[in-house]
Amino acid sequence: MITDRHRRPLGSLRVSVTDRCNLRCRYCMPEEHYTWLPRQSILTFEETTRLVTIFAGLGVTKLRLTGGEPLLRHDLPRAVAMLRTVPGIRDFAMTTNAVLLGRFAGDLKTAGLGRLTVSLDTLRAERFKAFAGRGRHADVIDGIRAAEEAGFTGTKLNAVIVRGVNDDELVDLVAFGRSHSIEVRFIEYMDVGGATQWSFGDVVSRAEMLERLEPALGPIEPVQDGGTQRAPADRFRLDDGTTFGIIASTTAPFCSDCDRSRITADGLWFTCLYAVDGVDLKGPLRTGATDDDIAALIHDRWTARRERGAEERLAVSERGPLYQVEGLRVDPHREMHTRGG
Ligand code: GTP
Ligand code: 5AD
Ligand code: SF4
Repeated sequence: MITDRHRRPLGSLRVSVTDRCNLRCRYCMPEEHYTWLPRQSILTFEETTRLVTIFAGLGVTKLRLTGGEPLLRHDLPRAVAMLRTVPGIRDFAMTTNAVLLGRFAGDLKTAGLGRLTVSLDTLRAERFKAFAGRGRHADVIDGIRAAEEAGFTGTKLNAVIVRGVNDDELVDLVAFGRSHSIEVRFIEYMDVGGATQWSFGDVVSRAEMLERLEPALGPIEPVQDGGTQRAPADRFRLDDGTTFGIIASTTAPFCSDCDRSRITADGLWFTCLYAVDGVDLKGPLRTGATDDDIAALIHDRWTARRERGAEERLAVSERGPLYQVEGLRVDPHREMHTRGG
């Protein structure tokens, strides 16, 4: 197992398979038009599988496919079938907006995907259209149902809470999760690349969420995970046994425990969500580097890793968006939808 300068292991790898998305969530892709990564730069499934195998050899055990929206990648179940055979991966998940899940849930399950996280911020169709820029709410609900029918268990639902937009739906979302046996996680709105309209006033903190939930739901007990979880969510339990999570990435970042890194669809490896630069892995892959060469590159970068991006943002006074839209246009790799949410 290799560890970084803060003794954090290389444990969880998030692989973006496309930077494209079929929604325009206001906290992620508020613009209508983007510059996409050039097609020929996108890693093939063979290249991705080779990289994941090398990472697994260095200690990665958790793999998550991300986007953009991963289901926009042509033939994704084939990639899943390839990646599921990588030795050492114990947890294989995907984050999706579920718009296309109705069509693909069965194939993904057959191909060997372990579990799903669905992003859904509102239960109201009209609000969804305004917030995500597309009227696809019914497709998402259909996708969630299809996942259940296909036999997926342990599905999670991520809802980014933005003040004045969906902060009145906390209780309804918990009820929705309960009725579908899905654990809901509320995410504090983050000032990541893409969130050009971010302001601190729009963030609903974990403390405020709990304050609002308790009068409606009764006593809320923290779930003790025995310190074994490196997941970003703090989990809570209600009297009736329903659990939910809160990811307090803005007001209480989990950098000290962060074992995650991300590969963009064009093979740049980022060791922090907030990192300015990534390590180019596509170049070595395509110019004849051996697996050992690539493993050495990864090893050297990880053992030098010091980043604590979200904590550093916390220390910034007069905090505004991380990037303005012009700054994002300089380099699309700064975008959350390119890094994988
Ligand atoms: P599991 O708990 O294993 O299911 O995975 P997860 O919680 O990492 O999955 P998910 O992709 O759903 O991540 C949830 C949210 O946490 C993301 O959408 C981000 O808002 C936040 N998050 C994920 N990765 C990072 C990270 O590297 N740094 C920070 N600060 N926030 C992150
Ligand atoms: N704040 C918090 N989470 C975000 N995501 C994207 N942008 C933001 C943001 N500004 C995350 C959401 C979504 C996933 C794909 O990316 O959790 O579910
Ligand atoms: Fe697309 Fe996900 Fe970003 Fe929404 S949050 S625009 S679904 S990549």
